[in-house]
Amino acid sequence: MKQDELKQKAALAALDYIPEDGVLGIGSGSTVNLFIAALATKAHLIDSTVASSVASFNLLKHYKIPVLDFNQVASIDVYIDGADEINPLFQMIKGGGGCLLREKILATAAKKFVCIVDGSKMVTALGAFPLAIEVLPMAQSYVARELVKLGGLPVLRDGFISDNHNVILDVHHLPLHEPIALEEKLAGIPGILGTGLFAKRPADSVLLATTEGLQFKERT
Ligand code: 5RP
Repeated sequence: MKQDELKQKAALAALDYIPEDGVLGIGSGSTVNLFIAALATKAHLIDSTVASSVASFNLLKHYKIPVLDFNQVASIDVYIDGADEINPLFQMIKGGGGCLLREKILATAAKKFVCIVDGSKMVTALGAFPLAIEVLPMAQSYVARELVKLGGLPVLRDGFISDNHNVILDVHHLPLHEPIALEEKLAGIPGILGTGLFAKRPADSVLLATTEGLQFKERT
């Protein structure tokens, strides 16, 4: 089975997680795009959604799914998003699409985070995928030097500006054996606005589609 078909399986399974009379947080990326398309058939069941990117917001609007600004909602009941890597503790690397800052805000605010992935995203240890870091443009060189001191190799995402008008550094080779400690250390570097390392806020559930079938996993 092709990767896109596995993404579709995971996306369809996430329909079971639509909250009744609640706010649904929507992530970003190709798996989430499939979820949004599937959601269109259930628009009548949806109270309201909030989106983690301009692209997802526009897609929700396109399918006439009610979508609000995050400032208009008091809480998020369920947040559904993909990942670039996820480990057995459900910690993740995200941000391949560059939406990591808003994704982390919504994921952290959400009562429940459901991660939808195909089998290629499941890893024993995070770190083969470069870590996306959103940086204030005026601090880009300083932050890059600080990342090198931590053992990383930062690469500016060429021609990319985030929804928040910032740049993204894709950082290779960062030591990721202690994900929570690294996430906290990165958060302490002035100029870093957010990272794609989701260790302090792991997923609560994973819908994992592999060629063997669909697995529902809950964090214990
Ligand atoms: C976007 C993300 C995505 O969730 C991640 O990149 C996975 O994307 P896809 O579903 O296209 O494989 O973090 O910022």
